[in-house]
Amino acid sequence: MLPSDLFYIDTVKEYPDDHMKKIEIAKKEFNENARPELSTHVDNMDDYDTIILAYPNWWTTMPMPLFTFLESYDLSGKTICPLITHGGSGFSNSLNDIAQLCPDSNITEGLAINGDDVQSSDTVLEQWINKIGIN
Ligand SMILES: Cc1cc2nc3c(=O)[nH]c(=O)nc-3n(C[C@H](O)[C@H](O)[C@H](O)COP(=O)(O)O)c2cc1C
Repeated sequence: MLPSDLFYIDTVKEYPDDHMKKIEIAKKEFNENARPELSTHVDNMDDYDTIILAYPNWWTTMPMPLFTFLESYDLSGKTICPLITHGGSGFSNSLNDIAQLCPDSNITEGLAINGDDVQSSDTVLEQWINKIGIN
């Protein structure tokens, strides 16, 4: 794979470890179309052509901090590769949402991995990377 950097999208507020509490907070954020404040920022986004955007499926789309992230930069002309983990619903609406937030980006075929299969997903990940041509 080409040289790459790993960047962790993090928020000012901490999400609780407790699953039910997290579900409730995420549901409220989704219903309110919230934009939770981020605590991490890419200072040199211009240096990157390709972004593998990895996120879990929360309430039928990306976690709302991903909306904040995508709106924080001018990603036009860049290639975005959606990589989602989920509990059974696959991408849900996340691909449409990414396309709406980044209308001038090139969005590749995505890869959806069930959260239960993450530990055994090396081969599908490699096949996907080869298929979309970012190897
Ligand atoms: C707040 C919240 C909402 C979720 N909503 C969905 C959903 O709508 N559809 C789905 O397939 N999985 C949903 N899940 C399951 C996660 O997508 C799944 O647990 C995750 O991708 C696995 O990664 P993890 O181990 O980092 O949590 C949700 C999980 C959380 C915490």
